[in-house]
Amino acid sequence: MTTVTTADPPARTFATTMDIVARPPVVFVAGHGSWLTDSEGREYLDFIQGWAVNCLGHSPTPIIQALARQAAQLINCSPAFYNDQMIKLAELLTRHSGLHQVFLANSGAEANEGAIKLARKWGAVHRGGAFEIITMEHGFHGRTLATMAASGKSQWEHLYEPKVPGFVKVPLNDLAAVEAAITPRTVAVMLEPIQGEAGVFEATIPFLRGLRALTRDKGLLLILDEIQTGIGRTGRLFGFEHAGTTPDIMTLAKGLGGGVPLAALVAHRDVCCFEYGDQGGTFCGNPLMAAAGCAVIEEVTKPGFLDRVTQAGAYLTDGLRVLSRKHGCGAVRGRGLLLALDLKRDVSGAVVELAMRRGLLINGPRPDSLRFMPALTVSDAEIDGMIGILDTVLGDAAPV
Ligand SMILES: Cc1ncc(COP(=O)(O)O)c(C=O)c1O
Repeated sequence: MTTVTTADPPARTFATTMDIVARPPVVFVAGHGSWLTDSEGREYLDFIQGWAVNCLGHSPTPIIQALARQAAQLINCSPAFYNDQMIKLAELLTRHSGLHQVFLANSGAEANEGAIKLARKWGAVHRGGAFEIITMEHGFHGRTLATMAASGKSQWEHLYEPKVPGFVKVPLNDLAAVEAAITPRTVAVMLEPIQGEAGVFEATIPFLRGLRALTRDKGLLLILDEIQTGIGRTGRLFGFEHAGTTPDIMTLAKGLGGGVPLAALVAHRDVCCFEYGDQGGTFCGNPLMAAAGCAVIEEVTKPGFLDRVTQAGAYLTDGLRVLSRKHGCGAVRGRGLLLALDLKRDVSGAVVELAMRRGLLINGPRPDSLRFMPALTVSDAEIDGMIGILDTVLGDAAPV
């Protein structure tokens, strides 16, 4: 049963945790499916899901079982040795993507850092030392120094200088700008099929197809950051499937581990040119996380699973459109279960805060937009519950 409250939770700070973000004064202690429970026993309907990470919801049985089984069997044997789960997950990812080789990592930023390294190595070996990567304005690729430089977040423009060089930014969906930015130094184009952190803005299908043709024509690599769009989030296993084009390099994280830290760098065999010692990491490919990844892929590729994601996405879109008309908001953006609502006014902070007080977790990636990234297993009743709470919150926090 839902416990929805409008009372202010007690104010608390925890001085021993680094203050890296303004966290609300709530401590979560449990989660099941689409629901989280805090230390006071309050329940919250979760449409954030660890930032699109818990694709099967909180503590799903397939992951609990895979982790328990694997923890009892083998947790880590060093990335210098093969393990059965690493091999199984690499086989699943290559079979389903049409790509050929996988490097398992622990976070999206680490996978993208690997993609950048692989492209630079390929440029050194095959393109006379070309190293520059064209990325998109407002894109988000992670928080390591290189992935921050690859990102197009304006707030980061002068943070942690000097920047890692070698990234050239162009506007999303502007093929002519990409073409104009290509020089003999260029080795790759890198982008997200949907810019999630920027507020859910899609790379159009003609743009993705145009990029594939352009990069082939110019002998460049196409790198797709599917960290947010991958593993069923858009209704297909990988976002690129909507455009019918395959990248040379794809990165995955978030949904891949279903909540545990797991990422993957997946590449075409012609690009795989790392030599011994070029790439690695102590935890990379550990069997415990890889077992969780196998369980996720097995669930998400079961017959009907992705059709249900598409259906739930359409149902959520319809509900948001009804709210939009009622509350004077704008378009619903996105695909599958990665959606945003344009509020048409800069009130997302107030809406997110009031929604939380009423037992709903949603995200405001920009002042004028809300983002929805529920579990891929979310039910229609939970979508109805979310729409109901948001309806009252929009009426109170963002009156027209
Ligand atoms: C598209 C994209 N790339 C990369 C990342 C970074 O992933 P991580 O936070 O796991 O390093 C994110 C995280 O939000 C993302 O959305």
